Amino acid sequence: MAQSETYLSPCALAADARSGRLYIAAHTGAQVLVWDTKSRQTTGKIPVAPSPGGIALSPDGLTLYVTSAIPAGEVLIVDTRTSRIQHRVPVGHTPVAVALSPDGANLYVCNQFDNTVSVVNLEQAKSVGTIAVLREPVGLAVTPAGDAVFVVNRLPQGHANGPYLACAVSVIDTAAAQVTHTIELPDGATNGQGIAISPDGQYAYVAHVLARYQFPVTFLEKGWVNTNALSVLHVPDRRFVNTVLLDDPQRGAADPYAVACTAKGDRLLVTHAGSHELSVIDRAAMHRVLPASDSPRNFISSVASTGDIVVTEQLAKADRLPNELGFFQGIRRRVPLTGQGPRSLAVLGAQVYAGNYYSDSLTLVDLSRSQAKPQSIPLNREAPLTLRRQGEMFFHDASDSYQSWHSCATCHGAQARANAHNWDLLNDGIANPKNTKSLLLSHATPPMMATGVRPDLDAAISSGIRYIKWIRPRPGQIEAISTYLHDLEPVPSPALSQGQLSPSARRGETLFKKAGCVGCHTPPLYTNQQKVDVGTNSYGDNDVRYDVPTLVEAWRSAPYLHDGRAASILEVLTVHNSEARHGNVSDLTDRELDDLAAYVLTR
Ligand code: HEC
Ligand code: HEC
Repeated sequence: MAQSETYLSPCALAADARSGRLYIAAHTGAQVLVWDTKSRQTTGKIPVAPSPGGIALSPDGLTLYVTSAIPAGEVLIVDTRTSRIQHRVPVGHTPVAVALSPDGANLYVCNQFDNTVSVVNLEQAKSVGTIAVLREPVGLAVTPAGDAVFVVNRLPQGHANGPYLACAVSVIDTAAAQVTHTIELPDGATNGQGIAISPDGQYAYVAHVLARYQFPVTFLEKGWVNTNALSVLHVPDRRFVNTVLLDDPQRGAADPYAVACTAKGDRLLVTHAGSHELSVIDRAAMHRVLPASDSPRNFISSVASTGDIVVTEQLAKADRLPNELGFFQGIRRRVPLTGQGPRSLAVLGAQVYAGNYYSDSLTLVDLSRSQAKPQSIPLNREAPLTLRRQGEMFFHDASDSYQSWHSCATCHGAQARANAHNWDLLNDGIANPKNTKSLLLSHATPPMMATGVRPDLDAAISSGIRYIKWIRPRPGQIEAISTYLHDLEPVPSPALSQGQLSPSARRGETLFKKAGCVGCHTPPLYTNQQKVDVGTNSYGDNDVRYDVPTLVEAWRSAPYLHDGRAASILEVLTVHNSEARHGNVSDLTDRELDDLAAYVLTR
């Protein structure tokens, strides 16, 4: 792709206090830049084709660990004196974040699409274990004692039409090499991203979105659709403390992303990739006013089972906190960054560097001088914006949405896919929430939406800008976003083994034809683009025909069906197919059903 030669897209930073160097992983630049903080020059380049993901530096600064974030993922072990790659360690599908054990002996790696964490023994330069977590692990932090790794799962799992759906944090006990605790987050938590543990090892801080998905998407004011949150966890007890909103009552702090703590532990830092800001939080002041909740489930996001809006005053103060806008007033400074899309952070003493993904720049914020303006430092002067890149930028930009509450990526994720929650959009009437759709192949599979209410991609983009961001599209904006979405490419399924089907999936391939799935889910797009009734109506709609969805990337688009009621493919074909109208599956054995599901998960 020409794209990768043009843009850097800084996605991860590592700082070396001794040498004053910053290592900058350039996601679309196929390299790690070695950047000198004194001269402010790039002094070296480490090629990491095609896409570096996460980086970590050994305690002595001599070795750099970089992931190659592709399906056949690897960790590259690099000698920082020579910039040479010494070892390539195979890990899982799309390794993104990495973290070192405090003794520098092990590296922990989030394999985003395998839903696992690899343990790499650095002396042997090989992976010595794979630990299953929940769904799309993308952030992790090791405790200062090295006894545990806290892993952020980006997405919730389970069906979407129940009273609770949230992503969670998995805690790995490093001695046992397994997950010993799962810390739930409040209802609506999604897009889990960065995490940091305080230097004293007491608290972990997780950045995520808190979706108010139980409300209709009628207006954005006061966070009625998406809010942006920080969850605080007690590390020694492996327990939830509380969730606080980073937003102000009239202004969202959209898409919280990277989290870091200063070495002294006095400040907590959070980037906002959607509103292009840095939150600088007084950590002690925050803890003075942070009450602990017994459980994230005490908090009620919005609507009780009766359908009444809950009067939150009736909840205990601690359990009301996730609804309180303005918690941070007086204890946090919101620093506007000049760059677009700050997704990474590094701290060198009082100097905080944010890496801006879309503007190919760093922003330096000096914490010792609270009046000092943030300084913008370009890393790449050559790249004029293509239409595709502009579209990608618009898609991830919340600063232009009403009161900057959210971006398209807040609901569709950083890669414009599904994010698990249902939303009651106004496009097809009210009180009939639909599961968020992936936008992969949308351009090729009109009409849009579960009910086909929008004729094509551009119409859907236009209504998204108008009625979800509540702004008018600017000239060229729809075309740019459309170009970006046209260019999305399917990611190979983690269920494939070197591109091949397993024996079970191969049997499933035959059944897919035999059971008549191909009639509607016709390859290569796996949809015939018709609206049909397969007996799944749930809202008593008059028209119970739904647009046949593509099955491409079905491995990552759970939950399924228009209202997300099915947590798995098997549930689509069995539990939610009581009238047996969804394919000829009634005489398939359990094993055949498993085979069929295994095949669908390879598309
Ligand atoms: C509040 C969450 C939310 C936000 C923000 C959001 N979307 Fe969506 N989007 C959805 C949901 C839910 C659906 C599925 C609706 C349905 O099936 O009726 C959807 C569907 C779509 C579709 C149709 C896909 C298909 O193949 O049928 C497109 C295109 C789309 N969104 C684009 C956008 C764009 C562009 C933005 C930003 C301007 C955006 N969305 C912002 C929730 C959201
Ligand atoms: C008559 C057309 C038709 C046939 C035949 C059919 N499907 Fe579907 N399929 C649909 C429709 C329509 C939906 C969406 C229903 C909804 O959203 O409620 C769907 C949804 C799905 C989904 C959920 C996808 C998602 O993203 O939510 C899966 C998985 C699926 N079908 C698999 C199969 C398999 C496997 C077969 C064969 C046993 C099959 N389908 C046969 C029409 C069909």
